[in-house]
Amino acid sequence: MIPLVKPYMPPREVLMPALEQILYSGYIATGQAVDDFEMEFRRFIGNPNMLSLHSGTDALHLAFILAGVKPGDEVISTPMTAEPTNTSIAMVGAKVVWGDVDPANGLLDPASVHSLITERTKAIVLVDYAGMVCDIDAFRHISAETGVPLIEDAAHALGSKYKGRMTGCNVPYTIFSLQAIKHMTTVDGGFLAVRSEAELDRARRLRWFGLDKKRSRLENDITEVGYKYAMNNVNATIGLVQMRYIEDVIGKYIANGKFYDEALAGADGVTLPFYYPGAEASYWLYTMKVERRDDFIRMMEANGVLASPLHHRSDTHSIFKDSRRDLPGMEQWYESFVHIPCGWWVTPEDRIRIVELVKKGW
Ligand SMILES: Cc1ncc(COP(=O)(O)O)c(C=O)c1O
Repeated sequence: MIPLVKPYMPPREVLMPALEQILYSGYIATGQAVDDFEMEFRRFIGNPNMLSLHSGTDALHLAFILAGVKPGDEVISTPMTAEPTNTSIAMVGAKVVWGDVDPANGLLDPASVHSLITERTKAIVLVDYAGMVCDIDAFRHISAETGVPLIEDAAHALGSKYKGRMTGCNVPYTIFSLQAIKHMTTVDGGFLAVRSEAELDRARRLRWFGLDKKRSRLENDITEVGYKYAMNNVNATIGLVQMRYIEDVIGKYIANGKFYDEALAGADGVTLPFYYPGAEASYWLYTMKVERRDDFIRMMEANGVLASPLHHRSDTHSIFKDSRRDLPGMEQWYESFVHIPCGWWVTPEDRIRIVELVKKGW
């Protein structure tokens, strides 16, 4: 069965010596390997103000704190995401306000967001779902008009771009996840991109109990409660080795995604997603809408290809019952969207076979 997700691990003969070296080095906590990995990752994204963390969820939590979201505030978000996007809003005590999605791609709809802004709105979370990029300019306009900061959850969108600029450089706060099944994994890990060195410094303290790691413990004074969110040298070593392969690996997702865009255009029973002008997806999953989805999934599985929607809509969870509202765009999108395999493990022969299967019908 061709899976929908699969962790990429660098070649054993390259990764294992590096891992063995760090494991027996006497320094497996947060140290030089983490600093080195951060430097490489910043260079790849092109943003000097990026901090490594133990997870993407940690990055989201810190992003809400840095954006100034407090208990009782409102954050506009999307139900079309993985749960951490929205549970981390609850972590800072804020209320989720559900924006509707564009039924053409499942991404947050700027017009819906605009209509929901009140004086209590303290942040807007954009999720680049499945590696597709949100309508960044439309959200920038909303942010400029209202003063509400944007947080881009790019857990699915490492290597995507907007108007030629890497995701991670386009809005005040961006988060990435390096969890097991993402484009790049360090087993677990995350990154937070912020606006300035001062914010980076604050985030760095928040990642380590509120302590300043550059000072000795005796000289330290905690002025703001922090967390234990740092990456360790073992995860960072995996990351450092992954960086040598990252362009090639992400390139395979993108090449497969573009192949499907061309080859499946106009196929019966299929509607391809609408990409906003200037958006360059990194196709973590290939996403489309299909007629009679259950039949489609059955037909693909019978032919050895996993096809499925991956995430459950977030707004149905009991913890968000006070936020529930009608979301007609979401209803429309949710009943017919599906993913097909698109990642580095899908070979040129596989993708041709997948297209043939889809075109043959179900
Ligand atoms: C959209 C989205 N946001 C955030 C996260 C959280 O990332 P992590 O698992 O690294 O905490 C995930 C994945 O797990 C995700 O899919």
